[in-house]
Amino acid sequence: AGTLGAAAAQSGRYFGAAVAAGRLGESAYVTTLDREFNSVTAENEMKWDATEPTRGSFTFGSADRIVDHAQSRGMKIRGHTLVWHAQIPGWVQNLSSAADARAALTGHINGVMGHYRGKIHTWDVVNEAFADGGAVGSLRSSIWTQRIGNGFIEEAFRAARAADPNAKLCYNDYNIDDADAAKTRGVYNMVRDFKARGVPIDCVGLQSHFGQVPSNYRRNIEQFAALGVDVQITELDIGGSGTAQADAYRRVVEACMAVSRCTGITVWGVTDRYSWRSGDTPLLFDGNYNKKPAYDAVLNALNNA
Ligand code: G3I
Repeated sequence: AGTLGAAAAQSGRYFGAAVAAGRLGESAYVTTLDREFNSVTAENEMKWDATEPTRGSFTFGSADRIVDHAQSRGMKIRGHTLVWHAQIPGWVQNLSSAADARAALTGHINGVMGHYRGKIHTWDVVNEAFADGGAVGSLRSSIWTQRIGNGFIEEAFRAARAADPNAKLCYNDYNIDDADAAKTRGVYNMVRDFKARGVPIDCVGLQSHFGQVPSNYRRNIEQFAALGVDVQITELDIGGSGTAQADAYRRVVEACMAVSRCTGITVWGVTDRYSWRSGDTPLLFDGNYNKKPAYDAVLNALNNA
């Protein structure tokens, strides 16, 4: 196949990009998006500060523009993200008790998942809850751990299953790409525990914001899949350029394609021009929407699997 989305679809997978609603009026951006990708993630527009800036008042204008664009072109949509410590409005930061925080959490999950019920195949239910460094399993301190405690993750997944029983529910994080890293072990143990106790979870999102791709990345995908969850590569970007960057992208795609439960890949942007990693060139299209060596490597890896 001649495009990323079509090549991924040959094995029933998707190949997506993070999209900014504010760029949907730029013709080169939209042309590239529509030609190459068959899935989208809103880069910022479904986050809490965008969707519920005031308690109980939901605003979906920017997110709906992305959803409408994707739906009209037959693209899949990933939902990002329901419960996070960042990009939360002031009223969430000021939640005053466990009961207040629980009510806000449930209200938000119901409001956002309810609005998009039937349109979004996978939600990042909880994003980036684990701490960097420290003991295996340690969570980062946030309004959620402070008000509710570590059980907020389980509560969020239970609320999400009830809000949209047909959506796949993911735990999404960065620096959980190395199979043996302490942070990875913590997430692995949580998923194993959730599966053992019947807490609803369907997938793990490996953000995969890379400098170097871990040598055991494929084994990492395999070990999560062996717990009975899907793996999605959710925010892929790799610093650098040229052959080294292309080789790294090829390794990531080959690792996913080798595991049947690795069901899709999303790159965190369409073009280097608008990458969040300013000063770097971590994506598949350069600032003028030319295909990079990394693009060719990804397309070949998708086609050769
Ligand atoms: O929209 C406002 C604009 O009105 C204002 O003038 C401007 C001034 O700073 O800010 C704009 O908002 C920015 C927004 O991106 C949209 O461009 C925010 O400041 C900026 O913080 C925000 O950055 C986003 C970041 O998440 C926030 O945490 C990045 O675009 C987005 O790529 C990034 O994505 C995250 C994932 O959600 C989770 N995983 C890591 C990943 C990369 O950091």
